Amino acid sequence: MQDKKNLFFGVMSGTSLDGIDIVLIELSSKIINIVDSEHVPYTKSIRDKILKLSSPSLDELEESQNFALVHARMTANGINKLLKKNSISPSAVRGIGYHGQTIRHRPEKGFSVQIGNAHLLAEKTNITVVNDFRNRDIVAGGQGAPLVPLFHQSFFSLKQNKRVILNIGGISNISFLVNDAVLLGFDCGPGNILLDQWIYGKKNLTFDNDGQWARDGEVIPDLLNTFIQDPYLKKLPPKSTGRETFNAGWLNKHQLELYDSADVQRTLLELTVLSIQDAIDRFCLGADEIIVCGGGSENGFLMERLVKIIGLPIKKTDELGVPSQHVEAMAFAWLASKTLIGESNNSPNLTGSKGPRILGIVYYP
Ligand SMILES: Nc1ncnc2c1ncn2[C@@H]1O[C@H](COP(=O)(O)OP(=O)(O)O)[C@@H](O)[C@H]1O
Ligand SMILES: [Mg+2]
Repeated sequence: MQDKKNLFFGVMSGTSLDGIDIVLIELSSKIINIVDSEHVPYTKSIRDKILKLSSPSLDELEESQNFALVHARMTANGINKLLKKNSISPSAVRGIGYHGQTIRHRPEKGFSVQIGNAHLLAEKTNITVVNDFRNRDIVAGGQGAPLVPLFHQSFFSLKQNKRVILNIGGISNISFLVNDAVLLGFDCGPGNILLDQWIYGKKNLTFDNDGQWARDGEVIPDLLNTFIQDPYLKKLPPKSTGRETFNAGWLNKHQLELYDSADVQRTLLELTVLSIQDAIDRFCLGADEIIVCGGGSENGFLMERLVKIIGLPIKKTDELGVPSQHVEAMAFAWLASKTLIGESNNSPNLTGSKGPRILGIVYYP
């Protein structure tokens, strides 16, 4: 019989549609130890399926249920592989925080849909699963997002320091930590999503490695000026966004075929940079430093532009001992740990909901 360590899995699949990030952590009150991790990549056909499910289509009910099973199977395989590799029995793990793949996020209509069959995941792993983290906050009047800043606050806040935690996933989002508190947290705008979409259409690549293609291009000033007029960027927080807004349709409405395609990539990258800069300038007054995580932090050119434009010290979470690609999945492991002890884990001051709520549904093994 193994000791009951405070072990949790966190599972995140974000808007970039690159795949499923799984991390196994051991939690103590102020320290997280990463035991192991696994990235389960999406194939092109899975990405296409998710893209199709992200807008209304014929028979989407059956399609989404089918995909939920596929997603759970892929996740269970990743988790079982990690258990085996680390000689850990399922009974030694307290829970899995299973975010699922977002296919619709409509807080204004009262719902958000993350798919992934938690019943099957519990069945295949024999571990307690927590999923559906967003809907309770939404019905309490909130955006159901962001949920990760509370985790940032617990593990990255510093006394006498104003830190911005910047996550550059498909969408970019920030948390503003002032001393021990989290003052703000919202989605800045597009992170990698438009960059990925454009290079995929032009070069059949899933992303622009290190931003090399964007680096070859020149910013198109008129186009950039139009991009930054996007209504989402003007909105005040609390606000959240996703593929509903920033997608192929968004690109199509800008008649981008008129321009050199590398210049468009460069201009889209500048949009990501400027939307982050604007969010920090307007809402994170007096920030001392920016700590970056998410896949966009692997884009050397994007990071270079951020350093140049923002003019504040910028480092990656790796320098604080947390690998930047694991932060989001770790956050959902931690949120699940809160759910399982009945502690509230939303951030009403950030999401706009009426008050503290315990997020998630629990599925027993
Ligand atoms: N080496 C790299 N160069 C440029 N971009 C990268 C690199 N590695 C990852 N990315 C970007 O990060 C994205 C994945 O980031 P991730 O944090 O997983 O986002 P999400 O949470 O939306 O899935 C990829 O789609 C890609 O755009
Ligand atoms: Mg991802």
